[in-house]
Amino acid sequence: MLPFSHSPILPYLLWCLLLLTLASSNGVVAAAKPQVGSGYKLVSLAQLPNGGGLVGCLQVKQRTSTYGPDIPRLRLFVKHETRERVRVQITDADKQRWEVPYNLLPREPAPPVTGGRVTGAPFTAAEYPGEELVFTYGRDPFWFAVHRRSTRQSLFNTSAGALVFKDQYLEVSTALPKDAALYGLGENTQPGGIQLRPNDPYTIYTTDISAINLNTDLYGSHPVYMDLRSLGGRGVAHAVLLLNSNGMDVFYRGTSLTYKVIGGLLDFYFFAGPTPLAVVDQYTSMIGRPAPMPYWAFGFHQCRWGYKNLSVVEGVVEGYRNAQIPLDVIWNDDDHMDAAKDFTLDPVNYPRPKLLAFLDKIHAQGMKYIVLIDPGIAVNNSYGVYQRGMARDIFIKLDGQPYLAQVWPGPVYFPDFLNPNGVSWWIDEVRRFHDLVPVDGLWIDMNEASNFCTGKCTIPKKHQCPIPDSKTPWVCCLDCKNLTNTRWDEPPYKINASGQTARLGFNTIATSATHYNGILEYNAHSLYGFSQAMATHKALQGLQGKRPFILTRSTFVGSGAYAAHWTGDNKGTWENLRYSISTMLNFGIFGMPMVGADICGFYPSPTEELCNRWIELGAFYPFSRDHANFASPRQELYVWESVAKSARNALGMRYKLLPYLYTLNYQAHLTGAPVARPVFFSFPDFTPCYGLSTQFLLGAGVMVSPVLEEGATSVSATFPPGTWYNLFDPTKVVVSKGGGAPVRLDAPLHEINVHVYQGTVLPMQRGGVISKDARATPFTLVVAFPLGATQADAEGAVYVDDDERPEMVLAEGQATYARFHASVRGRAVTVRSEALMGSYSLREGLVIEKVTVLGLEGTGKDLAIRVDGADADAAVATSSPYFAAGGDAKLQGEEGEGV
Ligand code: GLC
Repeated sequence: MLPFSHSPILPYLLWCLLLLTLASSNGVVAAAKPQVGSGYKLVSLAQLPNGGGLVGCLQVKQRTSTYGPDIPRLRLFVKHETRERVRVQITDADKQRWEVPYNLLPREPAPPVTGGRVTGAPFTAAEYPGEELVFTYGRDPFWFAVHRRSTRQSLFNTSAGALVFKDQYLEVSTALPKDAALYGLGENTQPGGIQLRPNDPYTIYTTDISAINLNTDLYGSHPVYMDLRSLGGRGVAHAVLLLNSNGMDVFYRGTSLTYKVIGGLLDFYFFAGPTPLAVVDQYTSMIGRPAPMPYWAFGFHQCRWGYKNLSVVEGVVEGYRNAQIPLDVIWNDDDHMDAAKDFTLDPVNYPRPKLLAFLDKIHAQGMKYIVLIDPGIAVNNSYGVYQRGMARDIFIKLDGQPYLAQVWPGPVYFPDFLNPNGVSWWIDEVRRFHDLVPVDGLWIDMNEASNFCTGKCTIPKKHQCPIPDSKTPWVCCLDCKNLTNTRWDEPPYKINASGQTARLGFNTIATSATHYNGILEYNAHSLYGFSQAMATHKALQGLQGKRPFILTRSTFVGSGAYAAHWTGDNKGTWENLRYSISTMLNFGIFGMPMVGADICGFYPSPTEELCNRWIELGAFYPFSRDHANFASPRQELYVWESVAKSARNALGMRYKLLPYLYTLNYQAHLTGAPVARPVFFSFPDFTPCYGLSTQFLLGAGVMVSPVLEEGATSVSATFPPGTWYNLFDPTKVVVSKGGGAPVRLDAPLHEINVHVYQGTVLPMQRGGVISKDARATPFTLVVAFPLGATQADAEGAVYVDDDERPEMVLAEGQATYARFHASVRGRAVTVRSEALMGSYSLREGLVIEKVTVLGLEGTGKDLAIRVDGADADAAVATSSPYFAAGGDAKLQGEEGEGV
């Protein structure tokens, strides 16, 4: 039964076929010989009751054969799902097609496909308006458009190109104004920076070919873009998601954008914005809010492939302590494993008793430990994980047998995380492993899925490889033959996979392999890492009842609700340092704000100077981790004295900013607001920042301007209008008039420029070398007013909780969210804190010991500073233009002790 069949409106039964016959006999069929498709015409349109949307039938105008026959009848479904979101879905009218499973990405159901039959009232109006967005359409040929209701600004309009809908080839184009700045469509390393460049290829299909490859499909699939336009001096943003997990090429030509997709549906979601922050809010409210991260995850992380035994790891931790460089988390790549097998320990190099003693020691200090796991399960009859997987029949299959691939341990099978049994098997394996080693988080890698072989493989009789210790096992050593015999392995349209129109199954699971319920790898390929992250999240959440931390390489729309991401295998080069900023910022737009790149580069090794500059930038990635390949020389931050100095400086500031970062984590979880943001997020009207990819914001008002050029000791930086204070030395002030001309800032080797913007109240603490200690120190509030202000306001917030609970909520007794309001009126400054609920009893030390006021003229002697109603003890004039006031301030409503 259709959910909308009980219509309160006079019901009409509309039959697609009947109306089609009439339409055809009118002879309205286009004559031109089509190339790929001739387009469709709309033959019926009905309105579903109770705001259920519009349902229509489309009929192909003329049959074509390129890339296969057209699907004759399509079902159109349009619904204004929220005030700011409209969905436009086009699918086969007669057959259920593959779409992203609803249990993976929960969303409003579309009506079922019913062979063209629809019950509803005929809809004849030219426009179908929602509160913010309006859907319009043309009948013959069918096209559709979405515009803003308020300004009639056109956001999407398909009238310029024919709609093509075949089983394995869908095509639709939209017109774009020349001045639209586009962002997103990833994952992709973009040499041109964050703003999409016309005519660059945007291929979306999860692929392990390393982040050093430019403009190709990479590890994640995010078919979404944000579009920012300046209209009458106002920056206005919206986003468009094509929710589809099949491979696709997106051609952006500057004034048009064309999707060429090899399966699934056309399922568009339009998010009205109109600010970039509103866009991510609307987007993440649909795809899932970013997962809250534990406090320690904002500390510094050290990893390396090639820590060949536990003593080396112990030495690394010691190295950090001796150098007094902050370190919260120590990682193992696959070195702790027995012959690269998941969930095992190397009995010689990582003996369990010693490892447990080491973990006890670092846990007592507040440090954490994370290890890697890959999805490929070694095919090995004496390996329990494999045996249990086989017993539960949870591996992906080809021709009825588990699909054989090769990864680090040699021959492997891939578990199917779309299979409920696969998920429960995985949860059980994670639990078993956690009993063995109490890890604090998991790193899921190679989950695109990456395979060193292509096609259908068997284990050769004289099987000799890999030799896990030799560290050169990525040459395929199975006997494989390319699969060419199915339309899934050789689809009619070839996306630009791996940047070279390679086979879809190239170095991954064969696309004709099948998952649970016969789901084709062809369709579900890009969901693999996503489904693994979901299963891993479930597994960790069930353990100890703590907030999970998962780092995943492969991602899809919605992965941010479960995991953090790093940008994959990069190079220790200056270019890669630059690229990391755009990829990081894109992931903020994708709803995955916990992101960073391998600091100092994965392979090959960086120069000493580059590593200095990389840690200065990397200290301000939301996820800050040094990681390297086994073949690179050691690059822990203490290895070079000069790098250690830069690290102490930059990470020292990060650790002081931890309360701010953690508050951004909370805001990200609430509203999707990225932790690291393109500058246009706070300044959408300031067009000189639309393409800015060498600087970024942390939250709304902290600007990071790193050195990205070899040999440079200054940096050219762009500042939106207003006053910006250098956080390391607030006497260094940039006052921008907003003309957009870059300013040159000093940046000697050990210094990075980080500025706080006027109007900000920034919560900081004293810092430290472990976040557990740093977070127990007293707070300073930095209040930034415009330079010389006599009348101005500033705002900020801090979120505090105990960080252990899986949820990050504002519940009574568990957390506090305090807002800060500061103002200056003449020579009187007031700072007020307002606890928005929550009486989380703060630990000793969680008090405001100092309020630093920036921007006021004079010596400060005549200033009256009141903090939460009390006179500040001392208004101390330091070097103009900032003043530090010590006082009895504390978070209002809290039980913390006074200073
Ligand atoms: C992949 C990962 C890399 C890791 C390596 C070995 O290349 O991207 O970070 O070190 O596998 O596990």
